[in-house]
Amino acid sequence: MVEIIVDSEKFQVDENGNLITELKKHGIEIPHFCYHEALGVSGNCRMCLIEVVGQKRPQIACDTPISAGMEIKINSELTRKVQKGLLEMEFINHPLDCPTCDQAGECSLQEYYMKFDKEGSRVAVADKVKKHKREDFGSNVIHDEERCVLCRRCVRFTQICSKTYELGIGGRGEHSKIMLFNDQKINNPYAGNIVDICPVGAMTSADFRFKRRVWHLKTTEAICQGCERGCALSVDSDKPKYENEQIYRFRARFDESVNGHFICDFGRYSYKFEQLIEPKNDNALLNLKDELKANLSKFDVLVTSSLSTEEMSAAIKFAKSFGANLYGYDDFRDESFCDSEGLKLRYPNKTANKKGLEHLQTSTDLTHIKDRVIVFHLGDKFELNLKNPTFIMPRKQADIICASAYHRDGHTINCDGILRFSKAVLSPVAPSIEQIIAYLMDEKEAK
Ligand code: SF4
Ligand code: SF4
Ligand code: FES
Repeated sequence: MVEIIVDSEKFQVDENGNLITELKKHGIEIPHFCYHEALGVSGNCRMCLIEVVGQKRPQIACDTPISAGMEIKINSELTRKVQKGLLEMEFINHPLDCPTCDQAGECSLQEYYMKFDKEGSRVAVADKVKKHKREDFGSNVIHDEERCVLCRRCVRFTQICSKTYELGIGGRGEHSKIMLFNDQKINNPYAGNIVDICPVGAMTSADFRFKRRVWHLKTTEAICQGCERGCALSVDSDKPKYENEQIYRFRARFDESVNGHFICDFGRYSYKFEQLIEPKNDNALLNLKDELKANLSKFDVLVTSSLSTEEMSAAIKFAKSFGANLYGYDDFRDESFCDSEGLKLRYPNKTANKKGLEHLQTSTDLTHIKDRVIVFHLGDKFELNLKNPTFIMPRKQADIICASAYHRDGHTINCDGILRFSKAVLSPVAPSIEQIIAYLMDEKEAK
């Protein structure tokens, strides 16, 4: 670590780090478009120009090496002047369509304009260079050429991360634009990240566009349940004020030890399975409880690797309470759900807690399982060769509907043995598995 001076204040930073990232750790933001921690330095946007004491001209912060005692000025007259100049250049041909842009509210260009510029344009709208809008780039990615700041993040993502090379830059000068290579649409399992990393409204999501203004959403941290990787998610759902309690999108959340900055598209769009389901349990839970009381010895219990470790522990206690055998089921393997190239996040076991189930050391051999089985599972119904199972799941096909993984708290252990906690995102609309078990054990009412 070395000491540097930022606007007369001293900070300790890693001399091998990037100046933008190091200062972000101290809550200091240097405006930028093209630099991204996962993509490295490109140096093409110039938005990060700052005054470096001792240097004749402003320097780009993303590519300025850190040295002990260096002094930079990020709020000086010179820094502000270059930022304003750069923003004016970005807006020369910008369509100024923020009111109808889906990125409004989370757009770096809009944010920097409000912070550093607020000047009117010297170019009349009629004189601006017109380009294509709403181009379907495939894989839910919609491109708007006019809003692009040509930072090349999207291009670099397909080169460095997905290694699928679908994008490039064509044209010259003010006619430069992002293009599909050989007119082939984007086709990679991580395409949604292109929308996440585009700093402006030039890449938007066909899935999310115009569904909700972002300032009507609240963001909660959760863990993806799509596979054993357990990627960190930001879950955007209605603010309580809007009452709808609907999830509108999953986005990647940075977790250095699990998924870095990205997630796969399967996980990203899995929010669609997790919407509200009215708990029409009617008397099913009561009937199950009566049946259990009448003939305890008839039942066994089966848990799947989709459950949290807390739910698995509750199931152990439940099975022990009436002497049932506890079985585990983790056969959710899909070999096609794997990457030989690129980010390699996707893991073939499509449940989140296989390692957690392994810790229980339950039997997975179902040869001698009884006919009457209570199955606890957080996912779609699956084929099981049982005569009379009762599926307790957060899906319409369930015999008894329970809360989904996004309606309750819980820990999972991922494929690398990393323990992560997932918070409830939405208010419970159905009892959690733990509440159902407590009810069946006569400990309390299922809510
Ligand atoms: S589309 Fe977005 S990410 Fe790609 S170059 Fe343009 S502004 Fe950058
Ligand atoms: S890799 Fe697995 S855990 Fe990560 S987003 Fe995709 S499905 Fe979810
Ligand atoms: S972020 Fe430094 S030049 Fe783009």
